Amino acid sequence: MCLYAKAKLSTRGGLAFLLFVNHTKDLNKKVSVSAQEMELENMKKYNIAVVGATGMVGRTFLKVLEEINLPVENYYLMASARSAGKTIKFMGKDYVIEELTEQSFDKDIDIALFSAGGSTSEKFSPIAASKGVVVIDNSSAWRMDPKVPLVVPEVNPEDIKWHNGIIANPNCSTIQAMVALRPLQLAYGISRIIYSTYQAVSGAGMGGYSDLENGIKGEAPKKFNHPIFNNCLPQIDVFLDNGYTKEEMKMVNETKKILGDDSLRITATTVRVPVFDCHSESINVELKKPFDVEELKKVLADAPGLVLQDDPANAVYPMAITAKGKNETFVGRIRRDESIENGVNLWVVADNIRKGAATNAVQIAQKLIEMWENGEVTR
Ligand code: A2P
Repeated sequence: MCLYAKAKLSTRGGLAFLLFVNHTKDLNKKVSVSAQEMELENMKKYNIAVVGATGMVGRTFLKVLEEINLPVENYYLMASARSAGKTIKFMGKDYVIEELTEQSFDKDIDIALFSAGGSTSEKFSPIAASKGVVVIDNSSAWRMDPKVPLVVPEVNPEDIKWHNGIIANPNCSTIQAMVALRPLQLAYGISRIIYSTYQAVSGAGMGGYSDLENGIKGEAPKKFNHPIFNNCLPQIDVFLDNGYTKEEMKMVNETKKILGDDSLRITATTVRVPVFDCHSESINVELKKPFDVEELKKVLADAPGLVLQDDPANAVYPMAITAKGKNETFVGRIRRDESIENGVNLWVVADNIRKGAATNAVQIAQKLIEMWENGEVTR
């Protein structure tokens, strides 16, 4: 029996667990299970490229990949010509950064995790896909393309099955909202959502970070239109003709696509706040069915990827400083909206660079490999 066949056989009983061993509430924890490690050794191995490996999200891709046991033979780290030849420590080795070119995907690569901006993705994702690579793209370039699935693995993993070589990672503020809203959609149905976000400067990349750091020292902003220190900016991304920002409309449109319901009524106000990491969101939801608050809390507590932190008497609720570095989404401050029928308020916090970007993309890769191994998706 060849090694691959052996791996497939053992897969039947164990792979889902093996691949998702860290996909539970604690993806951060190193798992030392020698039987599983041996099984990984015997499995078919895949080749993964990380495009934009030097960037803020790209570096977090590498951290998350180091934390989980994906069956990988080779990694290729790519960035622009500016970084080509530099080395990055990854998996205990020095990796040389390759320049991303039209020939980068001529080698045997199964999955490419992209976080190199929209225009790079627009140009290079189709090239990679045409060579049999599945691109998981963190930019907004492909998210609303009807031929491209937009995936949060806890919410709509089945959408991975109809990919045509590109799978889109949703916007950071949308991802964490989806993790909290999907269980409510399944249990009660949702008719309307009002988002109000409190978003960290890391969502604007290194420039956002520097504006807050330098603003504390009294320097003028370079990335944002106004100082972010000691301030809240009710503008994330550019304004559109309807008066909303692009970020607000991303939340509206991506929510409908991921939850598979165009009839949802949604509105959003997105705000940049002087916090370095982790987005916080107030979400007001109108449900279709009546609910009991304690039962609704239990629905959320049992949901995948979601941690309930809701003990107001002891001042326990999700906060940016406690969500930092975590792969889960945190929900609390759950209370009935007494102004409407079947309304509920939630406070949802997640690390925007982890679950809002890198973790979600790596989890899509993990799920895709599981589907390849189970034969649910053909390679
Ligand atoms: P580089 O560091 O070589 O510029 P961030 O979002 O944190 O700014 O990171 C953007 C990432 O995308 C970086 O890794 C950056 O590489 C990469 N990148 C930007 N433009 C290109 C490009 N044209 N080709 C390949 N990688 C790019």
